[in-house]
Formats: sequence, structure tokens, C-alpha cells
Amino acid sequence: MEKSSSTPSLRRKLKSAIQKTEGLAEVEELIRAKLTSSAGLLSEIPLYLFNLGGKRIRPLLTLITAKAFNLHPPSPEVIKVSAGIELIHMATLLHDDIIDHSSLRRHQESPLAKYGMVDTLLSGDFLLIRAFGICAHLDPYIIDLTERACVELTEGEILETPLFEYQHDLESALNIAVHKTASLFKLATQCAAYLAGTGSDAIVSLAELGLNLGIAFQILDDILDVTASQEALGKSPGTDLLERKPSIVNVLWLQSGTQLSQTLFSPPCKNSNFVEKALSELRGSEVIKQAKSLAVSYAAKAKENLQAAVQSSLTETNQEALGDLNEIIDFIVERAQ
Ligand code: FPP
Ligand code: MG
Repeated sequence: MEKSSSTPSLRRKLKSAIQKTEGLAEVEELIRAKLTSSAGLLSEIPLYLFNLGGKRIRPLLTLITAKAFNLHPPSPEVIKVSAGIELIHMATLLHDDIIDHSSLRRHQESPLAKYGMVDTLLSGDFLLIRAFGICAHLDPYIIDLTERACVELTEGEILETPLFEYQHDLESALNIAVHKTASLFKLATQCAAYLAGTGSDAIVSLAELGLNLGIAFQILDDILDVTASQEALGKSPGTDLLERKPSIVNVLWLQSGTQLSQTLFSPPCKNSNFVEKALSELRGSEVIKQAKSLAVSYAAKAKENLQAAVQSSLTETNQEALGDLNEIIDFIVERAQ
């Protein structure tokens, strides 16, 4: 089940884009091949996470962007980049669950809850090294971009201090989203553009597309943490509230100045019913509408970036894949409706 409450038709469209995306099966095969180790748990834990599913949105973006700019069928390099990015993403999920003390991931027991902190941490390290094993055989341009994206990921996570330690505002919350989430989206689209040979102007536009889409994705993630049901979310709603995270929704709520929002400046209190009260104040509020329109504005920028890339690309373009890219952008912002 997806962490979303998107309309059935959008989910169907995404599913059909996934099914018809050439190369995704090869990407999954390469990922599985990289999950082997003589130490059983280092295979078992990453495989457990991999089998929990997920949208595979990052490899999908790489494959579809490459196809949209005429690299079709996907070259071995595109398959490797797609698999490497998903392996990095998996590593961050393992580490993120440790940081967030999350007992649930994708509707199931999280690897952390099932295997404990030490083995989950080491499995994340293992996945990251496996990703770099793939990356090391690629063009130095891609190696540099991958290093930069991984540095940005860690920077985003370390900047994400709770609101009772640092008074974040919208600008700093967006900066965190740029680092912790948009960095991998940008890596996906920028590498695809480079491998497709679009030329430097279109590479810049497609990197921007990934960046804007990643920001929109994180805003939706923050919205869903408030608006989605436990069933749709696959974990308890309100964890960003409970943990006083500098999520986009939380900083907008603070900006709105309500009395209850000021609780975010105090460390979590185990016996309080703050989260329930906060959820009922926030659901359907102006704060959520503001966050949604912010996400829509980033998605619109992503669409403009795509048009600019089409105009400046040195390659032919593929109409079907361009349509799929536009649908992915729509899916990302509409999954909260
Ligand atoms: C999930 O966000 C977390 C991330 C997108 C980034 C995590 C990055 C790290 C743990 C840094 C480590 C980096 C490497 C390269 C291993 P979230 O907490 O908002 O979402 P959630 O709902 O999935 O927990
Ligand atoms: Mg988290």
C-alpha cells in the first residue's frame, strides 16, 4: 500500500507508467544482486526493506527522464545509476528510522524494530558501499554528482534539529527539504540528462526539475503526516508534531501564531494529548492549504523546467515519456487529495 491518499485514477496512471517503464525490472535485478553478503544479516535486512515495496520513484525518474530525451532503451549506465540511487535511498531509510526511532516503515515493522539498532545501522552502511561500488565504474561526472548528493543528504539530516533547540522558519525548513530529499531527485534527473546527451543547458533545467520536484515531494510528505489516516500512512500520523520537527507544516503553523502551535517550542511530553489536539486544529486549516499551494508552486516550476529542457535539448524528445514525466509531477502533488 502507498503512503498516500491520491485519487484512484492517478494511482492507476502511476502504476501503468511503472509497468511500462522499460528497465525497471533490470534495475530491481541489479539491486537484488547487490544485496548479497557472506554475513547473512547483511543480505536479510536490506532485502526485508526492499521487499516492503515503495514507489521506486527515484529510479523511475531516472529511466523516464532518459527516455524522454531519447535514451531508449535504457543504456547499462542508466540502469546502474537508477539502481545506485535506489540503494542510497534505502541506506538513508535505514539510518533515518534509527534517528527517528521509527517502529513502522511502509505499513510493516521497521527494520529497526525487527533487527535492532546495530544491525540496521550496519545494513545502511553496507547499502551505501554497494551503491558506491556501482557508481565507481561510471563517469567521473556522475561520481562527483553522487558524492555531492550524499553529502547534501547528511547535511539535511543534521540541520533538522528540533524546534525546541532551534527556531526554524520557512526558509530553513525548505533548505532542509532541498538537502535531505531534493538532492536525490536532482541526482536522478541530472544524471539521466547527462547520459542522454542533452547538452549543458538542458542538464541545468533537468537538475532544477529534480530539485523542485523533490521539494514538492517533501512538502507533501509533511502534509500527509498530518492529514492522512494511520491506515494510509502506514504509521501513526503526527510524528513530526510529536518530535517537534522543522517540517514545512510545523513552521507554517508556528508562523500562524496560534497558542497551541507554541507547544512546538517545548520538548515532547509523554503524557500530553498535544498531538491529537494539534491534528484536529491543523486538519482542514489554512496552514495545510498554504502548504499545498506551496507544493503546487514547486510542481509548476518543475513543469516549466521540463519545457525549458525540451526547448534547449540537443537530443530528440519522446512524447510518451514526456507525458509520463508530467504525470509523475502531478501524482506527487495530488497524492494528498
Ligand atoms: C526521510 O525523511 C529522510 C531522508 C529523506 C533523508 C535521510 C538522510 C540520512 C539519514 C542521512 C544519511 C545519509 C546517507 C547517505 C546514508 P522523513 O524523516 O521526513 O521521512 P519519513 O516519513 O520516511 O521518516
Ligand atoms: Mg524520518
